[in-house]
Amino acid sequence: MLIFSIETSCDETAIAIIEAKGGFKKPSFKVLANVISSQVKLHKKFGGVVPFLAKREHQRNLVSVLKSALEEAGLLKVQDFNLSELKFGTKFNSSGLIPNSKLKILDSIFSHEPDLCLDLCKFVKKYQFPQFDGIAFTVGPGLEPALWVGVNFARALSFLFDIPLVPVNHLKGHIYANWLNQKPSFNPLPAMALLISGGHTQLISVDQDHKFKIVGETRDDAVGEAYDKVAKFLGLEYPGGPIIEKLAESGDPKFFDLPRPMIKHKNCDFSFSGLKTAVLYTLRDLGLKPPYSLKIKRDISASFQQAVVDVLVFKTIKAIKESQNLPRTALCEFPRAVLGKFNIKSLIVGGGAIANQKIRQGLLESIKKELPKVKVYFPSQEVVTDNALMIAMAGYLGYLNNETVDWRQVKALPNLRVDE
Ligand code: KG4
Ligand code: ZN
Repeated sequence: MLIFSIETSCDETAIAIIEAKGGFKKPSFKVLANVISSQVKLHKKFGGVVPFLAKREHQRNLVSVLKSALEEAGLLKVQDFNLSELKFGTKFNSSGLIPNSKLKILDSIFSHEPDLCLDLCKFVKKYQFPQFDGIAFTVGPGLEPALWVGVNFARALSFLFDIPLVPVNHLKGHIYANWLNQKPSFNPLPAMALLISGGHTQLISVDQDHKFKIVGETRDDAVGEAYDKVAKFLGLEYPGGPIIEKLAESGDPKFFDLPRPMIKHKNCDFSFSGLKTAVLYTLRDLGLKPPYSLKIKRDISASFQQAVVDVLVFKTIKAIKESQNLPRTALCEFPRAVLGKFNIKSLIVGGGAIANQKIRQGLLESIKKELPKVKVYFPSQEVVTDNALMIAMAGYLGYLNNETVDWRQVKALPNLRVDE
């Protein structure tokens, strides 16, 4: 199956094209195109992602990203009008223009993105759009204005070319990123998934039928968000994760005694807001004021990062151990528990913050020591931060699971949860 996918949930405008096969049990993917246009430079000036600017940039970039993706896949072909007349019949007249009746609908789809409508019409006049088997797109969660641009683009393409639409949960995309470049026999399920991104920090059990259940989650800030906020205190740029990681390399992780929030709580939830505030108070209590010295920045980064790693590792191991020892009566908590133990085979990790080598290393070493039978998987570097490839892979599975929708009935879902 040829799958086309769109991602616009935050500050990356991305389109991918894959060939997928193998079915639900043994999915395998061949990447034909993976194009990402990042807005990071723009948002850097504001210290974080500005939703209305993200929306504007997605509108500006989508058609050129589309063109690059088709080019990369070797699928960019100029419009052959005779062919298009034959193929699309009523949809295009001989000049390659979309007839008025269709244009009206297109206008209504793009009522909030008129420039994107114009760009797409120009594209369609000049180039053919291949007959993909499915269009996968991020439906949520994410920034609502940003999501809508990709949602409407997907709706328009589905309407124009009669291609089934598959809405994809962005968080599932981060988890399915682990399936890239794996052998068809790859089957990490049942698994515990640890999702650490700019917007989410969750422990999720994924059973053999690809059912997702949240086992623990942050009560306030996400891991990436905490990195970004600490970076802001220190006068560093957005996104803070990679900068803090670099500074921490030459800092002393024991120099500042920071808390490990919720580590003693019985549940598998997290809290990173308190840790972020502890960084601020530590600096203030020492009478330190910005601009901070390089040594302070390094030691604070290292101490903060060590606290993050300790909490993530502790709670992840707790979640796996507890689910493996679940009594049969815990059915309401874990869907597979009725069969006895929820036999977790692996830990699969996803989300932008897993780019962090210390977090990776911490998870790998402790799981190897405490749960040697559990395999640990990280996504390959190209699909760690937001991208459309992961959306295409999740979209293929969604398609097989009959999750296609009518373009008339699709809405952006900014607060969508992974278990919905
Ligand atoms: O998954 P992602 O690309 O976007 C969301 O869906 O949120 O994650 C972006 C987040 C940002 O908060 C960024 O600071 C964080 O991932 N991040 C990192 C690192 N690289 C990116 N956090 C810690 N260490 C890193 N090396
Ligand atoms: Zn993401």
